[in-house]
Amino acid sequence: MNLHCTWRDMMREAAQRLASAGVEGASRDTRLLLAQALGIEPVDVIMRETDSVDATGLAAFETLVKRRESGEPVSRIRGWREFHGLRFAITPDVLDPRPETELLVEHGLRRLPQDGRVIDLGVGSGCILLSVLAARDDATGIGVDLSPRAVEVARGNAEALGLAARAQVIVRSFADGQGECFDLALSNPPYIARADVEALDIDVRNHDPAMALSPGDDALAAYRAILGAMPGWLKPGGWIGFEVGAGQAGDVSRLMAEAGLIAIEVFDDLAGIPRAVFGRRLGG
Ligand SMILES: C[S@@+](CC[C@H](N)C(=O)[O-])C[C@H]1O[C@@H](n2cnc3c(N)ncnc32)[C@H](O)[C@@H]1O
Repeated sequence: MNLHCTWRDMMREAAQRLASAGVEGASRDTRLLLAQALGIEPVDVIMRETDSVDATGLAAFETLVKRRESGEPVSRIRGWREFHGLRFAITPDVLDPRPETELLVEHGLRRLPQDGRVIDLGVGSGCILLSVLAARDDATGIGVDLSPRAVEVARGNAEALGLAARAQVIVRSFADGQGECFDLALSNPPYIARADVEALDIDVRNHDPAMALSPGDDALAAYRAILGAMPGWLKPGGWIGFEVGAGQAGDVSRLMAEAGLIAIEVFDDLAGIPRAVFGRRLGG
C-alpha cells in the first residue's frame, strides 16, 4: 500500500487479499473495515472512495485488514454486531449473535402476554432478552449466564440500549432454580458436542467462547438441564422456546414432550433448517 493511491485502490487491493485468504464476501468486509478505520458509517465510504489515502487512516486500515486476513470475523474486529435492528457490543467473552437467533425473538414475542415476564437462559451479549424488551415496553425480564464476564457485557448492553430498568442480568446456571415463575423462557444454549467443535469454521472455533459453544460430550446436555429445572420456574400456561442445532429439532421436541410440554412446534430459519422449537406448559 502507498500514499499516492485513492481509498478505492486500497479497497480493491485489500479485497483481493481477503479473497485469497478465503474470506467470503471480501468486498463487503473491506468496505466495513475501511469505515471502521476512518471512523465513518459504511454508507459514507462511497463519498471517500476517490480521496487520496492518508498515513494514519492507511495504518489503521492495514491493521484491520490483517486481522480479517487471519480469520477474525468483522463483528469481532468492530466490537459490535447488529441483531434484530439493535447494536450489541461484543467481547471475546460472549457468542457473536447469529442472525438465525432472531427467529427465537420473533416467535417469543408472539407468545409473551401483556406485562409478561421473560427469562433468557444463557444470556451472553443479551441479544435475545434485550431484543424482546426493546420490542415490548410492557415487558420485564432477567437473563442468566454462568459466565460473570458475559453478564457484564449483557449489563452494559442493557444500559446502552436504555433497558436496564426492565432487564436484570445475573450470574446463575440455567440448571438451577430461578427464584420466580416466568411467562416465557427463551434459550440459545450451547449445543455442539465437544467432539464436533474441532470441525467448526475457524472463525467460530477461534473466536466464540468454548463455554458458549459446547455443553460437553452430550450435545443435548443443556436442553436436559434446563427442562429438568423448568417446573420450578415456568408458569402453568407459560411458553419455552429453544434454538437448536441442525438435526437436533426432533430430539429436542422429544425431550420437551417427555418433560410434559404441549403444543410443541418447530420453526425453520431462512436457510430452511429447523432452528427453533417452542412448547407450552399445561395449565394456566
Ligand atoms: C450459545 S451462547 C448464547 C448467547 C446468546 N444468548 C446468543 O444467543 O447470542 C450460550 C450461553 O450460555 C452460557 N452458558 C453455558 N453454560 C451455562 C449454564 N450452565 N448456565 C447458564 N449459562 C450457561 C454461555 O456462557 C453462553 O453465554
